[in-house]
Amino acid sequence: MTKPFIQELVNEMTLDEKLAQLTQLGPYYWGLDDTVDLTGPFKELKIKPHAIENIGSVLNGVGARNAIEMQTRHMQKSRQKIPLLFMADVIHGYRTILPIPLALGCSFDLEACERFAELAAKESAAAGIHVTFSPMTDLVRDPRWGRVMETSGEDPYLNARVTESMVRGYQGKDLKEKGRIAACVKHFAGYGAPEGGREYNTVDMSSGVLREFYLPAYKAAVDAGVAMVMAAFNTVDRIPATGNEQLLRGILREEWGFNGVTIADFNSVNELIPHGAAVDGREAAEKSLAAGLDIEMMSTHYLHHAADLIEQGRLDVALIDEAVIRVLELKDALGLFENPFKDADPQVDEAAEPNAEHLQTARQLGASSVVLLKNDNEALPLKRGMKIGLAGPFATSIHVLGGWAGTEKDPAVSLYTGLSLKTSAGDILTAMTGELGSMLEGVFDVEDGIEEAFHRLKDCDVILAAVGENQQDTGEGGSKTNLRLSPNQEKLIWRLKDTGKKIVTIVFSGRPLELKPVLDASEALLQAWFLGSESGNSLADVLFGDYNPSGRLSMSFPYTVGQIPVYYNAYSTGRPYDPMYPQVRYVTRYLDCPNDPLFCFGYGLSYSNFAYSSFKVEAADKLVASIEVENASDTDGKETVQLYIHDVSASVVRPVKELKGFRQLSLAAHEKQVVSFEITRDMLMFYGKDDQLVFEPGEFDIMIGRNSGDHFTRRIHID
Ligand code: IFM
Repeated sequence: MTKPFIQELVNEMTLDEKLAQLTQLGPYYWGLDDTVDLTGPFKELKIKPHAIENIGSVLNGVGARNAIEMQTRHMQKSRQKIPLLFMADVIHGYRTILPIPLALGCSFDLEACERFAELAAKESAAAGIHVTFSPMTDLVRDPRWGRVMETSGEDPYLNARVTESMVRGYQGKDLKEKGRIAACVKHFAGYGAPEGGREYNTVDMSSGVLREFYLPAYKAAVDAGVAMVMAAFNTVDRIPATGNEQLLRGILREEWGFNGVTIADFNSVNELIPHGAAVDGREAAEKSLAAGLDIEMMSTHYLHHAADLIEQGRLDVALIDEAVIRVLELKDALGLFENPFKDADPQVDEAAEPNAEHLQTARQLGASSVVLLKNDNEALPLKRGMKIGLAGPFATSIHVLGGWAGTEKDPAVSLYTGLSLKTSAGDILTAMTGELGSMLEGVFDVEDGIEEAFHRLKDCDVILAAVGENQQDTGEGGSKTNLRLSPNQEKLIWRLKDTGKKIVTIVFSGRPLELKPVLDASEALLQAWFLGSESGNSLADVLFGDYNPSGRLSMSFPYTVGQIPVYYNAYSTGRPYDPMYPQVRYVTRYLDCPNDPLFCFGYGLSYSNFAYSSFKVEAADKLVASIEVENASDTDGKETVQLYIHDVSASVVRPVKELKGFRQLSLAAHEKQVVSFEITRDMLMFYGKDDQLVFEPGEFDIMIGRNSGDHFTRRIHID
């Protein structure tokens, strides 16, 4: 039920004022300094100065002081005193930069995901931001795509749980509360599946795949009460999402009951033209408005063409009114009509020092996101007093915040700094620390200092090789076809191996890289991602064993780029490969590479050793699967116990396994615990032939274990 004052505002608005409410522009149109890095093509929008007075929202943060100034000027000019909405890309923290979301997903820690968003919301709110374009919950299977760094990975169940936790963390119970901001889930829908991993490329999938894998996380956001939804750049069933009525009205509003605000991606209304889905701006506006796209971002076809469309009877003004009402309702929900500045606070926003408590949280989140991929002969943890060699472009680098980190106001803690705070700096010898250039700038490798590094570090007790990819080569517009470490980084690791010392390879990246070429040279392998402000401290905590690694991969790591897409929940094929018969030719297989990834979804090691036993599936009142997990080591640790299910035969082909639950256990040395999962009907349902959720009785494999490739299995019949 629309509040009377909102209805009155709309009744009194001119059409131009309404259309301006539905337009979002960058801050430079208001004549303030533009320090913001904007993405996407920028066009001359032909905005007349008086139109700016009525614009509804601003794209990307300008800081508390500028936001207050802009809002003050705006409120003086706005005929109806309708405040501006400030929206921004706060993807992994605002001032305190947190781990990239792909890393956060690896924590499998939902409470941590909520804290992550809560902290980001607090800092953004103080900077005058009202809405964040997060969570990005696009399911991903192709690490060639640069934006895999922004999502929680390849699994619909994990993505959904992370998404709802983040929505809760941003929004709390009431958007008016201090420190809360509205969340905008993106990119609806299927943006994570561009063909070939190439940014902005075609997305094409069956509606069954869309529903089964890609939609659940967006739906989880809607169910958690997300305030906004951003339409994707790509097509969904051959129609650009921005102008896709079936998607934006049909699925989102009618099926899921979403009644919040939808927004275009940057210039995506205009991009209906190059897509070939609209002949000109007029048709682009017509299709987007008809589809239910409320706010046009960084193009102005609504402003310029909607009036004509209405006059010609091609568009019903009621559609405009509905959209405007939704935008005003969001402003009201945020309390902006009472206080247009909300929590903007220059003192907090411009504090000379970053918030120590927030840094501590970033450090913990970082440590729990790191994934230990290999640890032979107890190469890790390091012992204090060891002579440590540290080589590679990420050894001393502070450029490890990760993409979408905004301005690098406070530099990240480097690995070197983190280590030297734990041990005497004299115990760390560095070599070949030149920064790795960015492919965007035409640089493909680090400078060769390999021989010098070998000679300098050969007498150390252990050598850490800090390698990876430049953070600028990840994120939007960061697609690549080669996922190997650069040649000099690979050579460095192999040459260091000649010292005969243990080599610990630490990989900084925003995506799964191809690590097979350095696997055998590395006694230990640690996936460091980009952990944000506290990167070096989080890594030092893990490397020295002050934090026992607990991260589990949220995305598979391929053997080679030729295997992509490789993910754990693939559909069953008619000719499955059986590893017992490796010589059989006419089965689904490669001749030169395993089918499975190098490291699978859910995989990750610990300094503890967890033993699984007594797997049971029992039916009484309820169907319950349980397992006993023992920490069979002298080190306290955290284990993530994972439940997978496979429907053996159904009316549509089912994935070989699907994650249906997980539980994190903190187990003291030698402690045991029984973990139980109730197998519910919901877990067994799937989208049938008519895109309807169905349950079909029959045989099911119930699996519990430590990751998607290592589990117990029991086949049972369920009616
Ligand atoms: O929110 C982003 C989106 O993810 C990619 N294009 C630009 C938008 C606004 O900056």
